[in-house]
Amino acid sequence: SSDDESSASVRGVVPNYAFAFDIDGVLLKGGHVIPEAKEAMKYLNGENPDGLKVPYIFVTNGGGKTEQERCLDLSKQLDVAVSPDQFICGHTPMREMAEMYQTVLVVGGDGEKCRVVAEGYGFRDVVTPGDIMKWQAAVTPFRVLTEDEYKNSRDRDFSKINIDAIFVFADSRHWGDDTQIIMDLLLSKNGRMGTLSDTFDEGPPIYFSHNDVVWATNFELNRLGMGALRVFIEALYKDRTGKTLQTATSFGKPQIGTFHYATRVLERWRKDVFGEEGPPQTVYFVGDTPESDIRGTNEFHEHVDEEWYSILVKTGVYQPGTVPRHQPRVIVENVLEAVKHGMERSR
Ligand code: G3P
Ligand code: MG
Repeated sequence: SSDDESSASVRGVVPNYAFAFDIDGVLLKGGHVIPEAKEAMKYLNGENPDGLKVPYIFVTNGGGKTEQERCLDLSKQLDVAVSPDQFICGHTPMREMAEMYQTVLVVGGDGEKCRVVAEGYGFRDVVTPGDIMKWQAAVTPFRVLTEDEYKNSRDRDFSKINIDAIFVFADSRHWGDDTQIIMDLLLSKNGRMGTLSDTFDEGPPIYFSHNDVVWATNFELNRLGMGALRVFIEALYKDRTGKTLQTATSFGKPQIGTFHYATRVLERWRKDVFGEEGPPQTVYFVGDTPESDIRGTNEFHEHVDEEWYSILVKTGVYQPGTVPRHQPRVIVENVLEAVKHGMERSR
């Protein structure tokens, strides 16, 4: 092969492996970049003994912004260009559900940002909890919308609107009020605010963008995540109805659908940027959460022909010294070690 190629592939050599990175607890913590992360990116981009450039993607359960906006942030944090074409967040696969429902409630994060994300995915009619509070302040007795929230919320008459599904896109910022509205809808007749079903099986389905009960920030102990909200909602539903909630679904890792989605993204990235057809032989998945990253990678490995190799780092949810609930192929200190381990193994 020639030396004059200006594409991403160095000297025409494209490795038969790739990396997939979790973000929180691997590359970032509490919004700050983990020191070894920038070096790991450089290493993958040619600053390694063989001068190889290695394809990689990002697979985070986080969310709350458009993929474009999140990738701009990441590019600055990691000092390397990150394209939405190599990025999947918790709610990315939800774009494939946009056609299924007419009116949806989108919960979490900055309400307006999540509305923009959902509309960008093609959801036709996106309602936020703020819209419902604006309709009747009495829905949430202990919360008054701020001036900005009131201004951004839309004027609708929810006594005449059925909400067909609930999508939790990002961590709730107001658990109490969001829970109140979610419960109102789950117990309603056909998603109509102010109605109460006799059978409690007429409410809309609820989708969570992931199921992480905890995640790692810069506080010394793990913090409650979206999976905790699901536990909370399910317990309340049981308490109110005596029944088990049957209509909750979670996306994100460790769900197999997310790994299939990641495979498609990685294949396309490898083809468009590196000119290589087909999937790589090995995908090194670097994560910090045994229940989502390691479990998902291990289960997916059993499911496909290619090798999916789980690498657990010590910089996030996993507490060094404990036995992880799902065994990774290897445990390393940090993301730079993870990259070196994978590249050395495949050398
Ligand atoms: O809220 C985000 C967190 O639960 C997980 O993010 O990047 O570790 O998958 P990540
Ligand atoms: Mg993580």
